[in-house]
Formats: sequence, structure tokens, C-alpha cells
Amino acid sequence: MIDFFPVDKADFPEPVIVTGAGGCIGSWVLHLLQRSGVNVVALDLKKDTRRPSLLMNDEELASVIWLDGDIANPQTIKNAVETHKAGAIIHLAALQVPFCKANPILGAQVNVVGTTNVLEAARENGIKRLAYASSIAAHGVFDPETVSTLYGAYKFCNEETAKVYMQDWEVPSTCLRPGVVYGVGRDQGMTSKTTVAILAAAMKQSYTIPFNGPVSWLHAGEVASAFIQSVSKPRDEARIFDINGVIATVEESIEKIEAIAPDSKIRAEGSALPFPTNLTDQPLRDYLGDYGSVDLTQGITHTYENFCRLITLGKIGNESFT
Ligand SMILES: NC(=O)c1ccc[n+]([C@@H]2O[C@H](COP(=O)([O-])OP(=O)(O)OC[C@H]3O[C@@H](n4cnc5c(N)ncnc54)[C@H](O)[C@@H]3O)[C@@H](O)[C@H]2O)c1
Repeated sequence: MIDFFPVDKADFPEPVIVTGAGGCIGSWVLHLLQRSGVNVVALDLKKDTRRPSLLMNDEELASVIWLDGDIANPQTIKNAVETHKAGAIIHLAALQVPFCKANPILGAQVNVVGTTNVLEAARENGIKRLAYASSIAAHGVFDPETVSTLYGAYKFCNEETAKVYMQDWEVPSTCLRPGVVYGVGRDQGMTSKTTVAILAAAMKQSYTIPFNGPVSWLHAGEVASAFIQSVSKPRDEARIFDINGVIATVEESIEKIEAIAPDSKIRAEGSALPFPTNLTDQPLRDYLGDYGSVDLTQGITHTYENFCRLITLGKIGNESFT
């Protein structure tokens, strides 16, 4: 799968800091950068390599510099950039929809103040390679067809803040709004259940996906590759892009899982997800150039086969099954 997403080490003369590096997308970013020999600094609340270790072996993990720190504290990212003389930041640290709903103040501190801290560190250190994650949920602010969430409101706020950082202080940034990410390492958040279904098939357990209808199938490696490509050269604008991968219904995906694992017992019930499914990746592809892509059969097959391998190795057990 890594061959789908080549990274040229020569594009990264200075270290890349990845915030939220212990998360799903962060793990893939670490994996792709580390395998290409790029110097990478992983930043997360604490060193928890559970997800990265699903993609990297012990030796590969040991070559990554890890920093513990709270992104809501302005010193965390500032110290990281200055200490490691970073040339690029991929900012992924965030709390997802259910966690923002459960604790709105903490959600704002991590998602809004945290992103402002990243922009401020970029401003103070002249960083011209900054990419950060917004979300398809940001559409809830301006699209009546999309559900409004605090998470989406916080993400939209970040987009507006980043535009002003460009306008007032010439801090460029590339914002990606991922749709539904799937793949090894995706295990939390309201849209993680399509990945849980693939895991259930690998564990030979029955599972009901709690939604139906069209979903964006964005492979975690593909979105990680787009984040890396975003910081592969200095930028001079603040740009915002949707990134959705393949649009396919939950029902179609169950057929694909059954073709790989004929004994699987996956069902779906409930309404469609309240997110748009007609968004194109073309503007992002035009801006970044090729960052690789995976079709749905390849992506589901790769995810299923790797879950089977990880179950055999004892790296994934019932505790991963939520
Ligand atoms: N996965 C998706 O489908 C999806 C869709 C749209 C947007 N996004 C966005 O992409 C980014 C990465 O998503 P993901 O799926 O990898 O998320 P994730 O939940 O798997 O990982 C997020 C990481 O951020 C870290 N984090 C949380 N609070 C922190 C803090 N205060 N300081 C430092 N680190 C902190 C967590 O420990 C975790 O490792 C997030 O910004 C998310 O909102 C994800």
C-alpha cells in the first residue's frame, strides 16, 4: 500500500512536525515519512504508539522523535518548532465530534486554541509549509443539508483564522477537509464504523453499521499522502480543500467485504450520514499534483488483510472492537 503514496525525501530538507501523531491519520503520516527517510517529529498528548505500531515495526518507531505535549498550551508547538528547527508542520491534533459535544470547553481549547497556537508558532518562526485538518463537518456552518456540530463550528473557525493569518502576517497554510476516513488505525469518532465493520469481518464477528447510504471512502494513507504533499514545498496562500476519496454506499461496501470474506455477517441500519457526498477532490489534485489514490476494492482488501495479520500477531484484539 505504501507504494501507492511515494514521498521524495529531497522535498524535506528540515524536520516535519506532526501533531496528533498517535491518531489514525497521524500514524499514516509518520509511516509514509519515516519509510522515505524524512526526519519526523511526532507530537501528541502522550507517547501512545498503539496506532503507529499497527503500521510500523519497533525499529521504525524508534527512529521517530516523540514529544509529549498539550497543543492547547502555546509553548508546546512553539518549543517543538524551535528545538527541532522544523521546516514544516502537519497539524492533526483534535478532539472529534462526540468528545467536543461531551466537553465543549475542552473541545474549543484543543481544536480552536490549539490551531491558533500552531498558526502563531508558524508566524513566529517563518514557517511556510503548514497543513492542518479541518473536516467535512465544517460544511455544517454554511450548508443546510449538513448537520451542525460544535466540532464543525470549531473547524470552520480555524479556517477563518488561517485566512487572517495569511492576510495579516503572510502565514501560508493548506487546509484539508477530510470526509470519512477508513483504514488501519481508524477506531474512534462517529464515522469510524465502516472501518469497524471491516475489522469485524476479520475477527469473524457480526456487526451492524449504524448508518446507511452514500459515504465518502477516504483511505487513511491517501489523506496522509495529501497532507505530506501539501507541505512538500513552501506555499504563499491560505487555501481550503475538500478531500473525499471514493463515494460509495454502505451497501456497496458490504458487498465488497462479503466478496473478500464470504462468511462475514455485516449489516447496516439507520439513516444516511448528514454530510455531503457530492464533493470532488479535483481542485485539491489540481493544486497539489498527484498524491496517489486507492480504489475501494484495493482499500477494503488492504484493510481487511492487514487486520487479519494484526489479529494473528496479537496486536489487535476485542478491545479494538467498539
Ligand atoms: N478520521 C476522519 O474521518 C476525519 C474526518 C475529518 C477530519 N478529521 C480530522 O483529521 C485530524 C486527524 O484525525 P484522526 O482520525 O487521525 O483523529 P484521531 O482521533 O485518531 O487522532 C487525534 C489525535 O490528536 C491527539 N490529541 C487530542 N488532544 C490533544 C491535545 N490537547 N494535544 C495534543 N494532541 C492531542 C489525540 O491523542 C490523538 O492521537 C483531526 O483534526 C480530525 O478532526 C478526521
